[in-house]
Amino acid sequence: MRHIAILAAGAFLFGTVLTAGAEELDLGEGNLAFEHLPQYQSYLQNYDDSQMTEYGGSVPHRKHDDFNPLPKGYKHAQPYLKNLWLGYPFSYEYDRARGHVYAIEDVTKIDRINRYSEQAGLPSTCYNCKTTAIPELLEKHGDNFWSMNFHDFRTVLDPKMHSIGCTNCHDPARQMRLVITSVPLTEALERQGKDWRNASRNEMRSLVCAQCHVEYYFETAEHGVAAKPHFPWDKGMNAEDIYRFKSNGNPERDGFEGQFTDWVHAVSKTPMIKVQHPEYEMSSDSVHAQAGVSCADCHMPRSTEGAVRISSHHWTSPLKTDEMIRNACMGCHTDRTPADLRDRTVYNQERVWKQLNIAQEKSVRAHEAVRQAMEHGFADAELLNEAREMVRKGQWFWDYVSAENSAGAHNPVKALDTLASSQQYSDEAVRLAIRATNHEIAGSMDQPIKELVPPIREHSRKLQQSQEHLDSHVWLQYLPLLPEADLVWDGNERLR
Ligand code: HEC
Ligand code: HEC
Ligand code: HEC
Ligand code: HEC
Repeated sequence: MRHIAILAAGAFLFGTVLTAGAEELDLGEGNLAFEHLPQYQSYLQNYDDSQMTEYGGSVPHRKHDDFNPLPKGYKHAQPYLKNLWLGYPFSYEYDRARGHVYAIEDVTKIDRINRYSEQAGLPSTCYNCKTTAIPELLEKHGDNFWSMNFHDFRTVLDPKMHSIGCTNCHDPARQMRLVITSVPLTEALERQGKDWRNASRNEMRSLVCAQCHVEYYFETAEHGVAAKPHFPWDKGMNAEDIYRFKSNGNPERDGFEGQFTDWVHAVSKTPMIKVQHPEYEMSSDSVHAQAGVSCADCHMPRSTEGAVRISSHHWTSPLKTDEMIRNACMGCHTDRTPADLRDRTVYNQERVWKQLNIAQEKSVRAHEAVRQAMEHGFADAELLNEAREMVRKGQWFWDYVSAENSAGAHNPVKALDTLASSQQYSDEAVRLAIRATNHEIAGSMDQPIKELVPPIREHSRKLQQSQEHLDSHVWLQYLPLLPEADLVWDGNERLR
């Protein structure tokens, strides 16, 4: 019964590829699915997004939302996300990640990309980690591809056919050997004098994931290839190393000059940097990495598919079921039970989560202190700039843990250390801003955070078209009113 369903799905995929023969892209995924049915069968499980774990799982929800019922809201939400990213598209929508098969569908729907206009507001480079089609698109468009309008590829990339798939990690021409197809990863390794072609099998079992589950930035048009992704690893992989790298770019080598800035925070006017999803960096110096454990050991364990033993291609939380924990963890942790291992992991996550939320509130307070100092009128400009530097740094350290998808499970010690640093930098920002006003804002700053700055619960591109919405929170008043407009794009369908 199950087999028939799978074969039907395979035939569907195969069929799509055949009928799409005349179209721009034909990646032959259908063939690979047929040749490696058990792996493909486990790959199809990525469509299942029905089960949460305590801190993870692949059920989509809004990450700031602690007020709507599950799963759109979430019991461990982070209510201040919209405040912290104000003025940057991340403040419109930020959701839990889910399975690889949804990558194109989700990137084309997210409110971060302007669907109300002909101009997406974000470049095509966003597709780099969503599809098997990048090598072909680069061949066709060269380095121009990265900075082309995101909307230009909405109808080219099919959410079912072209989402993350076999050829992102395998070379079908060479017995499905693991390969790196990512340009920025290949180049980052080259800068370290390394070549993935010489990497061990064990290293490849993590490097294939490091193509996407990493921190990156886009080179600037002035100093590099516009919007090309670049991995900031030349000084190391910890929050401090990458912060130093991003604060002093060498235009010849790094594709940007001086201080890298993703956006200027609407309220504190601080030049900010956003962290992406540094799973590889977070894991790189964990106890598990030290013991030689790869991403695939935990996220693609050997398991039984039909009658065959394969590497599971269902990439999700390994904590969902006891069987998954047995497959992923108990080859090494022979003396523990699944319940023990889950409890110990959640024990770590709980502590990281508590400090994450404290760091987050301190970051909000830091922006507010700078805001009040600016509104005060007589703030010392030099001290205020020192305060902004600490706001930027504090939020960067917080985001390094926040944007990482394991809630600290990958490296609890490093996560806690990074959050402690974040809290110290944000406290310092508040102190400097208060000093910049000769302590005159000390009184008005002396309030519990929820009263001082309430969380912004609702915000979107549509809402920013309404003055009433902008008047509903002191911080929102710093945003420009957007012109009224209707949706132009929904997924890869053009509406107008
Ligand atoms: C020792 C086992 C282990 C290793 C090695 C490991 N992970 Fe994880 N990973 C976990 C656990 C445990 C979680 C937390 C799951 C949860 O909270 O339900 C997790 C969570 C994740 C998540 C979020 C998944 C979800 O559904 O919540 C992603 C993405 C991820 N890991 C990617 C990676 C990548 C990429 C690597 C390699 C750089 C890696 N992991 C290495 C065990 C591991
Ligand atoms: C081509 C880019 C790419 C590669 C390669 C890749 N991933 Fe992912 N991964 C993503 C994207 C993008 C998502 C989120 C998709 C979505 O939410 O629509 C994701 C989601 C996940 C999730 C689910 C996250 C969650 O919160 O539920 C896990 C687990 C994961 N990846 C692990 C891995 C592991 C392990 C590897 C290496 C074996 C890997 N990924 C390789 C891009 C990639
Ligand atoms: C995100 C990276 C990634 C993607 C995407 C991916 N694989 Fe794999 N695949 C791996 C890794 C890692 C291994 C383990 C290789 C090893 O241990 O040497 C593997 C192993 C395999 C093997 C060897 C046998 C086994 O089970 O260990 C086959 C066959 C295979 N994959 C087929 C596929 C097919 C078919 C697809 C598309 C439906 C696919 N893979 C997609 C990473 C990936
Ligand atoms: C390839 C071997 C290996 C695999 C697979 C593995 N571990 Fe570990 N794990 C270790 C080693 C080695 C240590 C460090 C020594 C120790 O504490 O036993 C460790 C330590 C831990 C610790 C305590 C240290 C910390 O970071 O808090 C936890 C919790 C843990 N592992 C959970 C897991 C879970 C959950 C999985 C499966 C998702 C897993 N491990 C898979 C080898 C492994």
